[in-house]
Amino acid sequence: MNYPDYRPRRLRRTEGLRRLIRETRLSVDDFVYPLFVVPGSGVEKPISSLPGQFNYSVDKAVDAASRAADLGIPAVILFGVPEHKDAVGSEAWKDGGIVQKAIRAIKKARPNLVVMADACFCEYTDHGHCGILSNGELDNDASLENLARTVVSYAKAGVDVVAPSGMLDGFVTACRESLDEDGHEQIAIMAYSAKYASAYYGPFREAVQSTPSSGDRRGHQMDYGNVAEAVREASMDVAEGADIVMVKPALAYLDVIRAVSDEINMPVAAYNVSGEYAMIEAAAERGWIDRERIVLETLTGIRRAGADIIITYHALYAAQLLAKR
Ligand code: PBG
Ligand code: ZN
Repeated sequence: MNYPDYRPRRLRRTEGLRRLIRETRLSVDDFVYPLFVVPGSGVEKPISSLPGQFNYSVDKAVDAASRAADLGIPAVILFGVPEHKDAVGSEAWKDGGIVQKAIRAIKKARPNLVVMADACFCEYTDHGHCGILSNGELDNDASLENLARTVVSYAKAGVDVVAPSGMLDGFVTACRESLDEDGHEQIAIMAYSAKYASAYYGPFREAVQSTPSSGDRRGHQMDYGNVAEAVREASMDVAEGADIVMVKPALAYLDVIRAVSDEINMPVAAYNVSGEYAMIEAAAERGWIDRERIVLETLTGIRRAGADIIITYHALYAAQLLAKR
């Protein structure tokens, strides 16, 4: 395979040839679209740090989910901003809670759309931490009990996939056991297995007002220097019953996605997080980069790294681009 006998440029000559030999293809089938649900009705409030993304009341979330479904996107993932926050985040497991209402409404309107729901407490606690605090520290095992209640209430509302995101030890076991005990053995778990303590979540925390009032999440989220630990976390979650494992964020962690997808024989999701979206939008807005090309290149890169599923705020936009190609 040497020049001049082999000339790699021969197969790069036309778009048709390039399409034929392309190794990684991006498809609308890969996408999960995140939605932020807030109390009220008729609410469609722009999130300033996530241009093009909104806080939706349940009725408007149904419209947004329908737009995603109409574009062929298979799934949405829901985040809730409750009416009232308290010390334990009790609205998270309320039968009439914001996410539970949204699950019911979306499943009713679009039964074939996969509805996933993020399960954590940072959006629900007045201190912004991902569970119950004792002596200022996150109390792992006490928080697991509330997580178990929360995922069961999501299952009762008709969710397809629960997505525990707190990085608590034993969080998948807590979800699987409580779901099974309540007769929801068909409800899948997508575990935030390797979720790094990351500055890339900044815009998300503005969207759900979940910035911790003191301290940070480095006691439970992963240190960004580590990759072997990510594989360890993912294998523990699979042993505990995870159906899908996730790496998050995506772009600074493509090697982690690769390692997890090589080592773990389970579907791998990558979360293309808020800060990654915001950087592209900010630069595109100024005309510094070409949004269309950057979005497709970025999402293809995440797939090439080994992700089967991409959770992305660009889902609707990318689905439109793919449809017109
Ligand atoms: C926690 C959660 C976070 C994100 C998803 N689930 C934020 C955090 O840990 O502070 C981040 C998503 C994003 O930045 O797009 N419930
Ligand atoms: Zn959290």
